[in-house]
Amino acid sequence: MFILHKSKAMKSIDSFNLPPGFIIAGKYRIISKLGEGWEGEAYKIAEIQTGIERTAKLFYPKRNPRRKTSMRYAKKLHKLRHCPMLIKYHTGERFTYKKASITALISEYVEGEVLSEFLKKLPGKRLHPFEAVHLLHILAKGIEQIHQYNEYHGDLHLDNIMIKRFGLSFEVKILDFYHWEATKSENKQNDIIDLVRVLYDSLGGAKHYAKQPDFIKYICCGLKRSLIIEKFRTVSILRKHLELMEW
Ligand SMILES: Nc1ncnc2c1ncn2[C@@H]1O[C@H](COP(=O)(O)OP(=O)(O)O)[C@@H](O)[C@H]1O
Ligand SMILES: [Mg+2]
Repeated sequence: MFILHKSKAMKSIDSFNLPPGFIIAGKYRIISKLGEGWEGEAYKIAEIQTGIERTAKLFYPKRNPRRKTSMRYAKKLHKLRHCPMLIKYHTGERFTYKKASITALISEYVEGEVLSEFLKKLPGKRLHPFEAVHLLHILAKGIEQIHQYNEYHGDLHLDNIMIKRFGLSFEVKILDFYHWEATKSENKQNDIIDLVRVLYDSLGGAKHYAKQPDFIKYICCGLKRSLIIEKFRTVSILRKHLELMEW
């Protein structure tokens, strides 16, 4: 009886939309909602005892059966804790919402904005090619470290990259992961394709592609997957190419 009841509660939750002030696990207060995706919702929160800002990622129970999704996510963040480009994982919490037990993963709150928002504010809504390859180099170095741990990101795009101008460069953090049922090497290749796509998108996408300089087209390969992988079999090859390319 109880199990039936519980699984009904699990299936019925399609959104949380928790209001500011809502308390999670007796320890954190919601400040605002940051976003929502397939697996759940992200919130800016404050630790009640200290007032320190954090991020909570809440998983929809139906996307998190036996807490497998959240567990995998937390363990991956922990395994990659020495990669400075990833957000720092703090703790896992549970709380009850509409009779269902919800998992919340607490991590650092990153200041800055997602790359998609950052681009919208720029003149022409895109980066200059020099800035864009610079950003790609930062990202490639970060992803290279993740691949060195034999892991992958799985969901690199403009909304999973946080960016802030800092001195002569950018401060960049990557959020989110996605678990794919594919081999590690296929997943790593997908990360390379996604990185090239981020370059392409941050330069204004299809609308501006024809006029991009040759060194950009050499990397983007018209977004043809096989051509990109042929040139950049690993993310290290891409990173080295950026460091040694001629203008
Ligand atoms: N640690 C964080 N610091 C600041 N903002 C974050 C953080 N994590 C997520 N966000 C914001 O919340 C949005 C959604 O979070 P994300 O982890 O990408 O989950 P999903 O895409 O599955 O909803 C992000 O695009 C970003 O704007
Ligand atoms: Mg996301």
